[in-house]
Order: sequence, then structure tokens, then C-alpha cells
Amino acid sequence: MDNFTFDLPTNIHLGNGLFNKTADYISNVTDGSKVLLVTDEGMEKIGLADKLLKQLEKNGFEVKLFTKVVPNPKDADCAEGGEAARSFETDCIVALGGGSVIDAAKAIAVLQIHGGMPQDYAGRGNVPGPVKPLVAIPTTAGTGAEVTRSSVITDTKRKIKFTIKDVRIAPAAAIIDPELTYGLPASLTASTGMDALVHAIEAYTCKLSNPVSDGLAIQAMKHIYPNLRQAVEDGANEEARYQMMTGSTIAGMAFSHADVASVHCMAEAIGGLYDTPHGVANSMFLPYIIEFNAEADTYKHAEIARTLGIAGEKESDSAAAAALVKEVKQLAKDIKIPSFSSLMEARIEDFDYLAKSSFENGSTPSNAREISEEDYKNLFYKAFKEKL
Ligand SMILES: [Fe+2]
Repeated sequence: MDNFTFDLPTNIHLGNGLFNKTADYISNVTDGSKVLLVTDEGMEKIGLADKLLKQLEKNGFEVKLFTKVVPNPKDADCAEGGEAARSFETDCIVALGGGSVIDAAKAIAVLQIHGGMPQDYAGRGNVPGPVKPLVAIPTTAGTGAEVTRSSVITDTKRKIKFTIKDVRIAPAAAIIDPELTYGLPASLTASTGMDALVHAIEAYTCKLSNPVSDGLAIQAMKHIYPNLRQAVEDGANEEARYQMMTGSTIAGMAFSHADVASVHCMAEAIGGLYDTPHGVANSMFLPYIIEFNAEADTYKHAEIARTLGIAGEKESDSAAAAALVKEVKQLAKDIKIPSFSSLMEARIEDFDYLAKSSFENGSTPSNAREISEEDYKNLFYKAFKEKL
């Protein structure tokens, strides 16, 4: 009977076509007129950044574009963004893109006001004061970054990822428009969708889960799991796209109030070292961590399998948890996510470093089962040896 607090600082607007009303939502969170639009080259290439820029200018906003964000966003790029935001005297930051763009925009918002490098604010609650309002517009159904209070940035010198966790970086508003994902390639739909599923599973099973985050996590899984294969196979399936976007946002709400756990710790370790896309990295370790964790909380893992129809009501908890392991492996295979063993960069000589980096991740203590550096090393071996 633990105490818990639940607050949601982000106004969530979800629906097809809402992108076209972005200017209205910005007016809800700022009286100012200067908008820094943080996005990436991909958004520029497909013309979405320009479409938004025109919409905002038409509505009286002065817009500065910042496109220097790459997957697994880098510390130096965020510092450059912070400088751009400061010199422009930005009133509101708008992030248009996937999780990398939204995470970079969160760091930029901090650096605009407080200066320095993103590393200066790593950890929990280290942002010293308010920042300008952030409006997040996700273009993938995955990270849930539009509703979370965390930002994962890569330290380029140390080749590790670190996280800024602070309620002050939670977006003031999220505009979640499933139509923005219609053109997403299958591989990106698959990897970001798996990230969302991992958020829901880790939020539900981690030590910091609470009754509200549990409800959100289960609901998120019900949206994501039955629609992921369809969204990958047929990107034009509007219903699957809508369900995936809804599920990923709910999963974001769940894990921002609980935590992620060891799947993310391992994924961030290889993301930092090899620059592996986040969703792919998560997918590589999910079955092994479920297998490892199931003995600590067999019931909850079995409940996931039952809720998703992977196991029947009559199956024992351990059989249901085993069925979950098997199914997440199959799912990754069906949606063509590569295994860790097929990752070109992966080298056994790196496993000591990767295990240490995973163990030192701030979410390791949240894992359902106590996990040591040695355990992580064994899990890297296991994932590396087993061909899915
Ligand atoms: Fe994630």
C-alpha cells in the first residue's frame, strides 16, 4: 500500500487532422509570438516542416527553423539549438518529429534559459527553474515523448546516453495527429511500435508501477499489440495507425508515472555505443528481460499474456509468461526487426562495457527483478548467441 502522486502537466489533443490547428493550440500556451520550430531534415524533405511554418506565419507567429536533430540526439546539437532559441528570444518551442526531435526540443528548452550543456541537468529534478512552453507534435507512434517529462540525449564524447528527468520539461501541449504517420516506412513503424509496446510492458511490470500507471499500461497494450502487425504490413490502414498513435501516447503516460526498466537500460547502452535505433534496440532485448523478470513477478507477466489473448485463462502463470516470451520473439520476427546477433557492430569484447553502462542506467533499480552487472553481461551473451 504505497503512496503515489499522479499529475499530468500536458494538455493532450488527439485526433485526425489536428495538425492543421497547431496555431490555435500554441496560442493556448503562450501570449508571445516567437516560435522556434525544432524538427529534422526528414520533416523538411517531405514538406511537413514548411507546411507548419506557413500555417504559423499565416496566424501571426514569427518562426525560426532549427533542423539539426539526428536520431539518438546529440549533446552538441542541443547546445546549438539552445543558443538559437536564446538569440531568437523564443516564446514557445514547437517540436515536430519523432522521439529524437521531441527529446532534443526538451533539452533545447532547458539550455535556452539555463545555459550550459544537457549533461548539466542529467538525473531527476535537476532543472533549476521554469522553461518556455513546449508544444510537441509526434510523427511516429512510438516514444510517447509528447507526454513524458524525460529527455534522452547522447553524450558524444563518452558514447553513453543520459536522461534529464524533470516535470519542467514536460510539453505544455501535445498535438497527436495519427494522419502524420500515414507515410511512415514499414521499418520505422515496426521499430517505433515495438518501443511503445516495451514502454507499456516495462511500466506495468517495473517496481515503480502504481494502480493508475497499471491501468494506462494495460490499456496501451490493448491498442498497440493487435494493431502493430497491421500498421507495419499496410501503412495506409487508418484504423491501425489511429490505434497505434493512441496506444503509444497512453504508454508514454504510463511509463512517465512509473518508469521503464532493464530493456531500456540495455537498449540505451547499445544506442550510446553503436547508435542503434532506439526501437530496434529495445526489441532485441525484450524477450530476454521478460524471461529474466518473470520469476520475480510471474503473475503480472501472465496477466499481460492473458490480456492480449496470448494465453488462455486456464493456463498457469508460468505457462502464460512463457507464451509471452515466445510471442514477443515472433512479433519482432514478423515485423522484420533484426536480432542482436545480426547487428554488424556488436562485438563480444564490448559486453563488459555494455553491461556496466546498462547497470549504471537510472532505471536499473526500477526493474521488476534485482539485476546485477553480471546478469546484464549474461543477457547480452544470451541475446547475441540466440538466432531468432
Ligand atoms: Fe523508449
